[in-house]
Amino acid sequence: MHGFLSKMKFIIFFIYITFVYSESHTFTTLYTEINGQAIAGIPEFFAVTTLDGRQIDYYDSEIKKLIPRQDWMKKFMSGDRFKEYNEIRERVQQTNKINITVIMQQFSQSYGVHTYQRMYGCGWEDKTGYSQGFDQYGYDGEDFISLDLKALRYVTAVPQGLITTEKWNNDTAHLKLLNQYYQHECVYWLKHFLMLRKVDLERRAPVVSLLQRHPSSPVVCHATGFYPPGLTITWLKNGQDQDEDVDYGALLPNEDETFQKTSTLIIEPEEWKKNQFVCVVEHMGRTFRKILTENEIKSSTKAVHCCGFTEAVIRLVLSALVGVATVILLVYGIRSS
Ligand SMILES: *[C@@H]1O[C@H](CO)[C@@H](O)[C@H](O)[C@H]1NC(C)=O
Ligand SMILES: *[C@@H]1O[C@H](CO)[C@@H](O)[C@H](O)[C@H]1NC(C)=O
Repeated sequence: MHGFLSKMKFIIFFIYITFVYSESHTFTTLYTEINGQAIAGIPEFFAVTTLDGRQIDYYDSEIKKLIPRQDWMKKFMSGDRFKEYNEIRERVQQTNKINITVIMQQFSQSYGVHTYQRMYGCGWEDKTGYSQGFDQYGYDGEDFISLDLKALRYVTAVPQGLITTEKWNNDTAHLKLLNQYYQHECVYWLKHFLMLRKVDLERRAPVVSLLQRHPSSPVVCHATGFYPPGLTITWLKNGQDQDEDVDYGALLPNEDETFQKTSTLIIEPEEWKKNQFVCVVEHMGRTFRKILTENEIKSSTKAVHCCGFTEAVIRLVLSALVGVATVILLVYGIRSS
């Protein structure tokens, strides 16, 4: 029914939930404490805040400083809130360090690497105004304790959590504070961050380029990085609208919530070299022009605007797989010989 109400699993290092076109928004903070420093390169404690599945800030016990992960969070982080958010994380790091040893005792564990996590936040639907908080604790990647906001009580998924839920449920004043937070403050901040993001996106003008795969292929006028999505691309031939031999591409979303769009001119290079062709992009009352000349064209194979990142990742994964396969073959080769 509501996307953000579905039971969430604790994921140790990443939470990546995308809500590209959805009407519901989520604002989540995840704290992760790992006892000891058993895993090289991974901090003992880290905190990640996300808005609609995208990181907006990050903190860990090594850097000891809250880092904005979006441009629009930089301004926010330069204010008083930065100090407060930083202090909260420092405190959580200290208490969780002790908590994890207490929980280990409750599970009759005396050694080993263990993780203790808290994921809390709220969801909000902009159409209905419906909102819902969530506050869940996990231990070793499994559900441990969660706050039932309807009953305003903590419930445990495992018998080892009973001592804690009994203690926490006894503190009625604190439960009321949490209820207040999830009903009001949390939704207030969610909307505040949505607003900051929107204001930031509203300033995104398109980057326009002319692309061509080979010297004889059609020329693509490519606009990317713009927001809001309303944008038109037209071609002019010697100052007149060129409607024929034009292929309009679909509007596509980018990774960073901006959009991209293309318009392809399907004519022979001899013809556009003899005439003046101009790609005209209109966005938010502004006009961007690119006159079609050989110098202006970028080769598509070199262009990074479209799919560059994904392609790079795929290549990395593929080369890693090839590497692994080579090692396996070598090992088996040596064994069988
Ligand atoms: C963690 O520590 C805090 C502060 O000492 C305490 O209030 C809380 O109940 C502890 N949590 C657990 C799960 O033991
Ligand atoms: C709950 O609170 C009562 C009275 O405030 C106290 O006597 C009792 O020991 C508490 N129970 C727990 C589990 O903390």
